[in-house]
Amino acid sequence: MAEFNIERFVDLSGAVDLSDLDWKLCREAGLTDAEERILKYLGDTETHTILYMRDLLAGHSARDSEITAFLSVWVYEELWHGRAISRLLAEAGRPEDADRYRKVTQASSIRETVEGILSQSAAHLTPRFIPAHMTWGAINELTAAAAYGALIETTKNPVLAELLRRIVKQERKHYSFYFKQAHKRLEDDSWAQALTRFVIKRFWTVVGSGVGGWDNLGFIAALHFDTHEKRAPLRDAEATIQGLPGMEWFNILDKQVARLAETYVARHGAPVAA
Ligand SMILES: [Fe+2]
Ligand SMILES: [Fe+2]
Repeated sequence: MAEFNIERFVDLSGAVDLSDLDWKLCREAGLTDAEERILKYLGDTETHTILYMRDLLAGHSARDSEITAFLSVWVYEELWHGRAISRLLAEAGRPEDADRYRKVTQASSIRETVEGILSQSAAHLTPRFIPAHMTWGAINELTAAAAYGALIETTKNPVLAELLRRIVKQERKHYSFYFKQAHKRLEDDSWAQALTRFVIKRFWTVVGSGVGGWDNLGFIAALHFDTHEKRAPLRDAEATIQGLPGMEWFNILDKQVARLAETYVARHGAPVAA
């Protein structure tokens, strides 16, 4: 497998380009209520990336220069995904509350704190925890790209579609780093594979579930991933992760999202796309 070129990644990194987006067209095209809800949730997840980075930087990861260089750029690009989404919402006449960041942070669940403590203490014990973090990151980048992909396919707003295509391009680069890091650290290391398997099986849940709330996640699942056919991109993501040494069993993304969709519909009824 070709090495990830970290120098090139850092050189080419930066805020997602908004300079040539047609905001007038965006305003005219508008957004549906469903799109507004989904974008606010995804934007929250993006702007809170730094909370995840706090965990990722724990222990041995902080001593690896490639990982720290990557994470520095990663958190900046993710923040800009959130800011770009906020800008688009405002331009489309659906601005967020000014103190949204504080509110979302306060509401973020205790589970995240527990996970943070768990992963930080575990990460200090062994450098073999790094591939678990890297695998976790690869899964989350692929999941985020799938969520944006569903919006790109369904929206009638061409400016939103273009912005999300640009964001997805960066998510794919992020995925590539995590995946290659995970691969080289899992290869020929059965202990690392066992630890990664344990961590993902026991703790991994769909990206953003802590920060944005299960209800919003359920809404996305029920709207965009409620059938076997619509979940094809999630199974593609699973197939990719199965390519990691020791991760051949990975099939919980499709299952978790299917369950989320079912639970949401049982509680609230089928969501409306408009
Ligand atoms: Fe992102
Ligand atoms: Fe990303």
